Amino acid sequence: MNIKKAMLSTWVAGMLVCITTPLKAEVTGPPVPVFSKSSITKAKKLLASLTLEEKIGQMNQLTITSFESSPGVLDEVKLEEAILKYNIGSILNVPGTGAVSPKSWAKLMAKIEAISNKTDKKIPILYGIDAIHGSSYTSGATLFPQQIGMAATWNTDLVEQGTRVSAYETRASSIPWVFSPDLDLPRSPVWSRLWESFGEDTYLSKTMGVAMVKGFEGDNVGDKYNVATCIKHFVGYGSTVTGRDRTPSIIPDRVLQQFDLPIFKAAIDAKAKSIMISSGEINGTPVHASKKLLTTILKEQLGFQGMVLTDWQDIIYLHTRHKVAKNNRDAVKMAVNAGIDMSMVPDNYTFYTDLLLLVKSGEVPMSRIDDAVLKILSLKYELGLFDQPFVAKAKAYDKFGSAEHETLAYNAAAESITLLKNKEAILPLSKNKKILVTGPTANSMKFLNGGWTFTWQGEKADTYEKDEYTILEAFEEKIGKENVNYVQGVEIFKELDITEAVKKAENVDVIVLCIGEHNYTETPGDIMGLAITEPQQKLAEALIATGKPIVLVLNEGRPRTITSFETKTNATIQCYLPGSEGSRALIDIIYGDVNPSGRLPYNYPRFTNSLQKYNRKYTESLGDEEQNDDADYQKSYNPLYEFGAGLSYTTFEYTNLTVDKTTFSNSDTITVNVTIKNTGKLAGKEVVQLYLTDKVASITPEVKSLRAYQKINLTPGESKTINFNLNPEDFMFVNEAEKWVAEPGEFVIKIDSLTKTIELK
Ligand code: BGC
Repeated sequence: MNIKKAMLSTWVAGMLVCITTPLKAEVTGPPVPVFSKSSITKAKKLLASLTLEEKIGQMNQLTITSFESSPGVLDEVKLEEAILKYNIGSILNVPGTGAVSPKSWAKLMAKIEAISNKTDKKIPILYGIDAIHGSSYTSGATLFPQQIGMAATWNTDLVEQGTRVSAYETRASSIPWVFSPDLDLPRSPVWSRLWESFGEDTYLSKTMGVAMVKGFEGDNVGDKYNVATCIKHFVGYGSTVTGRDRTPSIIPDRVLQQFDLPIFKAAIDAKAKSIMISSGEINGTPVHASKKLLTTILKEQLGFQGMVLTDWQDIIYLHTRHKVAKNNRDAVKMAVNAGIDMSMVPDNYTFYTDLLLLVKSGEVPMSRIDDAVLKILSLKYELGLFDQPFVAKAKAYDKFGSAEHETLAYNAAAESITLLKNKEAILPLSKNKKILVTGPTANSMKFLNGGWTFTWQGEKADTYEKDEYTILEAFEEKIGKENVNYVQGVEIFKELDITEAVKKAENVDVIVLCIGEHNYTETPGDIMGLAITEPQQKLAEALIATGKPIVLVLNEGRPRTITSFETKTNATIQCYLPGSEGSRALIDIIYGDVNPSGRLPYNYPRFTNSLQKYNRKYTESLGDEEQNDDADYQKSYNPLYEFGAGLSYTTFEYTNLTVDKTTFSNSDTITVNVTIKNTGKLAGKEVVQLYLTDKVASITPEVKSLRAYQKINLTPGESKTINFNLNPEDFMFVNEAEKWVAEPGEFVIKIDSLTKTIELK
């Protein structure tokens, strides 16, 4: 299906009739040029001079670990074979021992460059890395909150600035290309990669994704401080039915068009240079084998002109795992003909060998190879790899790991941490209170950072970050060791000394209980149930039984259910995976030196089997307007905390919600104004959130959907009037005929508790 145009439509006598002006649907558009004419011209010239073997070589990406004799030890003979014999185009990944210094990266790149300079055409190798919350495979780099935390800031400027630091420090590591941002839209909080995403909402993800693409690529991706992005994972990867990683997704085309594609389209329009394909399957078709998704939708409908990369080993998996190809040769044919430009093979030459045979036999047309290699070479030119050595000189990057960069990471953590509950204003705590710090996440850097940190699963953070503050150390620094008692209590999966924790609680005023999740990413993070682990529940229950006030600190990648004990805590703070500066930011919030301003980017479930999104349908939402609530059913929609929730130490009052039109037509922009006043005693940041409800529609409407937001700062007593524009697209959805439409009728605009009803004529 290829939506070329969306029409503003009207519902007349039960029939959908398209009227008036066609509108540009937000997920359709002409090709978006991502490479300059000059890069393309140079790439074409070079392409014309390449042999078939050289072309096919360019389409191979191998992991650096496949050129190691043992972890971290490079086998130069193997590396030479890859470049001199197979002409590979790209290398990825961190050495087998984990993150290395910028200097070591530079040495490695110099070796690679020296080898590629020995080839006939001297085509530079394109090195790519998972720098997903800072340059997290480089020791000493500045580590930001993981993406879920960045989303919780609801501050796109801050996200863009932070991403610029990641770009700078990745280039300082001699690497010009990152596999980020993650634009997945998780449909189950069980999914182990939820924290790599921006959460459950399309609009929030779209705006955050664009901020990151801009931050990474800047105006000129070839600049020595910018890197190319690889937006990922196209598409539907985060939607598995089971919530387990890399299991099937069922996504109707209509739903894909309305909720998943707009996130990618926005990043494509922001000129993202490359894209990584989802390892999953949608409706029974692995995405890597789908010409409809990779060519018809991605390249033709969304207009993507950049380079298309597979995910790890995913062509091989078409045969060995998905079983849609009878052998590897078939798998290569399917994927390349579907629209793949480069294969993350990642550690052998099966793709090379099979593709060569397929082109020779005419099963993969030469035109497809030329198209793929043109994209790869254009990206290399665009990045300036042919003009400047890509071995970074330390003195050109003196801000690497600097205090300036650290401050940005601190600010991002401080704006992400979300205060969910503050009974009887127990927070901020006064500094003269004695506290017990306990729980498995209280004294380790690895829980603050999560996966993709120094290593794939992030288990070595304590070795790499001896100088950074754990939560416990940040408390001790703030109020003095003499005021802080500590006992770990339990590990994530194991009981240790709960009785000791209970005993130590006797002599303190407040307990700070730090719980969360082990380190993981991808399939190793799959879980059998969403509830927080049993040892942690036991510790929480034992501490609650002491009757001492409890401040619960959540340090987790996804919202694990905690209802049985959380309802008895005095305060609850969600930290997500806040990065290396997270502990200091958390402690500053706990003592009131920072006023919290994070907001949840997902619904926090109350029950493990009630995982509705905030933008639920009315039938999922018994108790919402006009539902049958004449029986004593259990309400089906009752999250523990809702998307967008988060408290401040000050109070905000919303007044004067106005709209410039109460009736409007298909071409109108609606201007919405609202005034917000800080009515408390402290300066604070508020996230103004605008939701829209389509009262009646031909596709069951969502109870509400986010359409705009803005984070503002208000001093005590200060008022600001905020202005939002709603465009015709904001009133549209994808109808049964898979067209973007806005149907006449009433819409409700909601900001805080204020509403205005307007009518589309
Ligand atoms: C992940 C990607 C990642 C790639 C390279 C894959 O397993 O799914 O997100 O970019 O590995 O490390």
